[in-house]
Amino acid sequence: MRVYKEKDYNAMSRRAANIISAEVIRRPDCVLGLATGSTPTGTYKQLVEWNKKGDLSFAEVKTVNLDEYLGLEPSHDQSYRYFMQSNLFDHIDIVPDNTNVPNGMAEDAAEECRRYDELVKSLGYADLQLLGIGSNGHIAFNEPDSCFRKETHVVSLTENTIRDNARFFASADEVPKKAITMGIGCIMAAGRILIIASGANKAQAVYDAFCGTVTPECPASILQLHNDVVLVGDEAALSLLPEEMFK
Ligand code: PGA
Repeated sequence: MRVYKEKDYNAMSRRAANIISAEVIRRPDCVLGLATGSTPTGTYKQLVEWNKKGDLSFAEVKTVNLDEYLGLEPSHDQSYRYFMQSNLFDHIDIVPDNTNVPNGMAEDAAEECRRYDELVKSLGYADLQLLGIGSNGHIAFNEPDSCFRKETHVVSLTENTIRDNARFFASADEVPKKAITMGIGCIMAAGRILIIASGANKAQAVYDAFCGTVTPECPASILQLHNDVVLVGDEAALSLLPEEMFK
């Protein structure tokens, strides 16, 4: 595992964007697994800038997103489809049909989960999967649990996640209580994982994920079993990691 400790959020974002752009340059028709949340916005901003300058093209890239709230229209400004359009897709040369986000409005959510698993599999899984980490150690919406769920599934969000995400809504009551999330299977099937973390409130989760026991109580800890993980964080988020991890 490779760890990059960057001095602040901007440096973290630039490093992550560099790693993604290297993948796209090396393999122009790659499949990128993408994430939402406040952590990747700086990364996407940097990718947009390089795309606008003509240094990077997404014309042949396909994307698969990790998750979506159940019950939010794609046009809802807190849906993850809306997030991806406004933070990345609307500003780059990607083909709209090549972008995939679970459908949170599907009439049959279980069927949508099956469809999404098949879709990601048919694309050959992500060549590079970008991940954030929740302060409770979740990846995508795989919340702390008694077992790892392999398939895409419907999840009830924990109090902790609802509280963390309430900052994007008018109140905690408006945060959807359920979401569709890619399971641990598709995430672990990615060729390479790029996990990014920023801020002191992530420090314990990052420590538990990479220095603790592999346990579904800290879903990100499963990444210890993946053979190609890059962790990029700012100093605050990586503050609890031992020095030898940076060598
Ligand atoms: P954040 O969320 O980037 O908004 O902190 C990360 C996550 O929950 O995966």
